Amino acid sequence: MDINLNIHSFLHGGDYNPEQWLAYPEVLDKDLEYLVEANCNIVTLGVFSWASLEAFEGQYDFEWLVTIVDKLHDKGIYVMMATPSGARPKWLADKYQEVLRVDEKRQRQLFGARHNHCYTSSVYRKKVEEINQELAKRFANHPAIVGWHISNEFGGECHCPLCQDAFRDWVKKRYDSIEEVNEKWYTTFWSHNYQSFDQIESPSSIGENGLHGLNLDWKRFVTDQTIDFMKAEIQVLKSYNSDIPVTTNFMYYFNELNYFKFKEHLDFISWDTYPTWHKNSDVEIAMDNSLWHDMMRSIKQKPFILMESSPSYTNWQGISKPKKPGMHMLSSMQAIAHGSDAVMYFQWRQSRGASEKFHGSVVQHDGSNKTRVFQEVKQLGDDLNGIKDIQGSLVKSDIGIFYDWENKWALEDAQGPRNKGMHYKETVQKSYKGFRRLGLNVDFVDMESDYSNYKILVAPMLYMYRNNIQQKISQFIAQGGIVIMTYWSGIVDENDLCFLGKVPYKLNDVFGIERKEVIGFYDDEVNSISTGYTYKNLCEVIEPIGAKTLATYESDYYSGSPAVTVNEYGDGKAYYIGADLEQSFYDDLYLNIIKALNIELPIDGSDNFPKGILTSTRTDGRDNYLFIQNFSQETHAVKVDESSHTLIYGEGFQNIKPYGTNIYKY
Ligand code: GLA
Ligand code: ZN
Repeated sequence: MDINLNIHSFLHGGDYNPEQWLAYPEVLDKDLEYLVEANCNIVTLGVFSWASLEAFEGQYDFEWLVTIVDKLHDKGIYVMMATPSGARPKWLADKYQEVLRVDEKRQRQLFGARHNHCYTSSVYRKKVEEINQELAKRFANHPAIVGWHISNEFGGECHCPLCQDAFRDWVKKRYDSIEEVNEKWYTTFWSHNYQSFDQIESPSSIGENGLHGLNLDWKRFVTDQTIDFMKAEIQVLKSYNSDIPVTTNFMYYFNELNYFKFKEHLDFISWDTYPTWHKNSDVEIAMDNSLWHDMMRSIKQKPFILMESSPSYTNWQGISKPKKPGMHMLSSMQAIAHGSDAVMYFQWRQSRGASEKFHGSVVQHDGSNKTRVFQEVKQLGDDLNGIKDIQGSLVKSDIGIFYDWENKWALEDAQGPRNKGMHYKETVQKSYKGFRRLGLNVDFVDMESDYSNYKILVAPMLYMYRNNIQQKISQFIAQGGIVIMTYWSGIVDENDLCFLGKVPYKLNDVFGIERKEVIGFYDDEVNSISTGYTYKNLCEVIEPIGAKTLATYESDYYSGSPAVTVNEYGDGKAYYIGADLEQSFYDDLYLNIIKALNIELPIDGSDNFPKGILTSTRTDGRDNYLFIQNFSQETHAVKVDESSHTLIYGEGFQNIKPYGTNIYKY
């Protein structure tokens, strides 16, 4: 499904909360005028509007919303309509206590805040269904509506009795008998054996928390139950018009929900980004932000929507700096470079009161269209119009890096060599950065993805195996693929039970090594390998059983033994990295691998990143687009082939100005 339906240009706009301004009709009129002036073509409505739509149970007032949607439509502005389940009215919480979430210490929360409903409660589901039905009746076939925005930033867990029952049912479906549960969760340890399913409870810091299999299954359940809640929301909307695509807005590095599991239930992926620009190095922040753009794009392998970003500052970070002149353009174009088909904001008009009154917005408290922020937003809208041919094109990659939520949950709960942090995220980032700094696009995959389009797969800390991943990795290599796997891989099964036998389990022959010992280090311990690179945190003593040693350890009792190895297997190669090595190790290794595979770099030279330059490409199968962005404050030269490339956006073919974006068609 085309995520933009009939809008063949980039979406530009953002969260609009007119319910906060119903007593100021002149403000609402100004909004319409300003939206057009700022080159916006979309707003998200209704995210937290429930109490304004249903002030008393069953008494609906949609007139104000219908009027606003009609007026927006008259001005050519589309609407992403949100369901209001992210925050409920007080009457609902007062009358039906069960909708309030219970925390892991079994304490029911009071009314307040947001994103804190019980996702199992049939009452809450019914009330959400009713209000969604009212929305769908009025808007599912309204020409202004281009998408449904389901709830807002799903997250958190509920431990109420209803959720406990639902969890027990989930466990019963997964395991045939209580004996099997006992075996899979290893309950004999400390005599925690269950006699029946009724005894099962969610993990708690004041109760059961040492059964890793239980902890993992609870997290899986939370994802499944959240999706189940979301599906119930979607079903009502789709029953009125199945053509309107649905999404829900995801968050930056959100750990609690396995986002890959949402892919089949959403028509497109969207997310909210709030990088801490100007904290220290903008290019490092840009690298990090690009990683999550790529993650979001990878989930459905399609363009995504940047649903929220601040046009200036946030108000919830430790320090909230405004974006410096030019950064809004640059960071928004970065989203486009990585496959977004939209730049959207939180929020259009700054709230007058409550907790986000100082959050950045397009229209600020002075109500002016003359501010720097407004002018930059307007300019961006204009620029997006100028490059609208790029909309809908894809970001293609030869490289897939594993980022598997379930694996992350398990390895962070493992209680192993480093409880002070295993650094899964940082290990993933090092590989990402190693390829991205060369200008190469990178995809993320989990253990359920299709790997057939890749030449290179990176498996950072593949601690847990699920979905027969060891066999898929062997096959991938046998058929000519390159796999780079790191320390702390191949250790447990999908229940977090340790494999018995040689590790990395069932991949010994493929990688030609056997792990003998794992060593955790204190934070300040730094060691090195024979090729000069340093390592920290973790290393493994490995014994080659066929692999070629590329570097050895330099110190301690395992000095001289292999730290990095490579093994030829079938038509491919299996690299094993035995220690948490520094970034430059990855940079150099990946450059060599890329050269050996003759993978073409989009621009010449691997030294662009230190200057503050980042690169990405999009393609529609016919035309290709190269984005080169400068996150530094100086002009930098880049080498782009003038005979094959045309500059379609930006200034100066071989020079990128400070905070500049150049786009070339080739
Ligand atoms: C999130 C929420 C918004 C708002 C912004 C503030 O993304 O979805 O409602 O709170 O953060 O940055
Ligand atoms: Zn609950």
